Amino acid sequence: MKITAFNGSPRGEHGNTQIMVEAFLEGAKRAGADVESILLVKKNIRHCMGCFTCWTKTPGLCVIKDDMPGLLDKYIKSDVVIIATPLYVDYVSGITKDFMDRTLPIVCPEFEKDDTGQTRHKKRYQKYPSMIVMSNCGFPEAGQFEVLRLFCEREVRNNKAKVIAQIYRSQGPLLESDNPDTRPVVEKYKELLKQAGEEVVKHGQLSLKTKEELEKPLIPEDEYRRATNESWKE
Ligand SMILES: Cc1cc2nc3c(=O)[nH]c(=O)nc-3n(C[C@H](O)[C@H](O)[C@H](O)COP(=O)(O)O)c2cc1C
Repeated sequence: MKITAFNGSPRGEHGNTQIMVEAFLEGAKRAGADVESILLVKKNIRHCMGCFTCWTKTPGLCVIKDDMPGLLDKYIKSDVVIIATPLYVDYVSGITKDFMDRTLPIVCPEFEKDDTGQTRHKKRYQKYPSMIVMSNCGFPEAGQFEVLRLFCEREVRNNKAKVIAQIYRSQGPLLESDNPDTRPVVEKYKELLKQAGEEVVKHGQLSLKTKEELEKPLIPEDEYRRATNESWKE
């Protein structure tokens, strides 16, 4: 099984998102997957220009000469892709959004109806990777990921990608913190992520227990709010 993570954090390898990606991929690798982690911030990815050349003159190929064709090749050849992003203004980071916009060439322009009667694009490829959406955010509550959850529902409907797991970490900045009081809970969380990576390779999904454990707050929300306010004073 080939798993490719596309991380859209501007903080790249120094970010909290990458801490999550690396732990998950370590577990997946242990279970036998061929894993690759790509930091989108290190790639040259320009905005989609909306010209539709990838649907008309050069079907499946974007007119922009940057790193996207190589990344799309890796995307489509993967069994599972991880879209990993920090939560920015309740949604994905700009880098992640540019990357997702530029996946337009992998579908065809023609419309079709899905099972619910809604319109979607016809597929260009026989097989598309399953998707895992992974994110972390600065606020303490799990509810901050409401918009990303809705995005996942739409992706499933659009049929380009079946979302097999959503892994969201509120209180994300604790992941990189060296506070000795919170390190043990962070290490436990990273072990859970490794377990999640193993489960996806072995069973194609997360067990209910792992899913529930991953969603628990790292520390009580009031304590997190207080500690965060204190840390901004430093
Ligand atoms: C421009 C910007 C927008 C953000 N928007 C949100 C937000 O809407 N909700 C939230 O909880 N955190 C928000 N954050 C905090 C980040 O999600 C948080 O710092 C996260 O740990 C960053 O992950 P990274 O280190 O992988 O980049 C925002 C941060 C930035 C810089």
